[in-house]
Amino acid sequence: MALKRITVLLSGRGSNLAALLAAARAPSYRGAVTHAIANRPQANGLAIARDHGIATSVVEHSAFAAREDFDAALAAVVDASEPDLVVLAGFMRVLTPAFVARYEGRMLNVHPSLLPAYPGLHTHRRALADGVRLHGCTVHFVTPSVDVGPIVAQAAVPVRDGDDEATLAARVLAEEHKLLPAAVGWFCAGRIALHGRRVRVQDARMPDGALLAPFPAPT
Ligand code: GAR
Repeated sequence: MALKRITVLLSGRGSNLAALLAAARAPSYRGAVTHAIANRPQANGLAIARDHGIATSVVEHSAFAAREDFDAALAAVVDASEPDLVVLAGFMRVLTPAFVARYEGRMLNVHPSLLPAYPGLHTHRRALADGVRLHGCTVHFVTPSVDVGPIVAQAAVPVRDGDDEATLAARVLAEEHKLLPAAVGWFCAGRIALHGRRVRVQDARMPDGALLAPFPAPT
């Protein structure tokens, strides 16, 4: 069976792209990242993609007056990459319903919170301000409303007493780097089925990561 073609959309650092590329090196992985597209030319993720010999494109959102026009240009580039799956890995633009509809059922996003808690921005700051003891990340299908699509997988981490935004973000990011490649791998292997808002995954082995807080001190 041919490898599924994955197009990654990103805006910045690209660490989730790097994690995906590392996972996709496994011979059993059923997908390959074939194209990375950024909305900012200086996005570090583009350099990561180039280092791996992956095609890159830039569609600068700032060049378009209307969101619809940016999305139409982006869709043209995405379509040209002939993806089986589109992955939003730190893509920080809200997409129009028309764009989302075009890739319905084949577009995944990684979000740095346990949705439906903390959609949108500054998730770690808001979790700390609320004093939650569990935080984490979510991989979900993208639907027109932001951060509410069917959930494929989540990983939880404890919020520790001494945490600040940076330490909490780092703990969550380490889980994103396991969760996103796992979920993308399931999709590419045809192991994900959507039943309304519920996602069933065949033979899912969750990456390590689910924890309870407070949790026993190490002995
Ligand atoms: C990640 O934490 C990702 O979950 C978040 O941006 C970061 C990108 O990091 N995405 C969102 O907040 C989307 N709403 P990366 O560029 O190193 O992968």
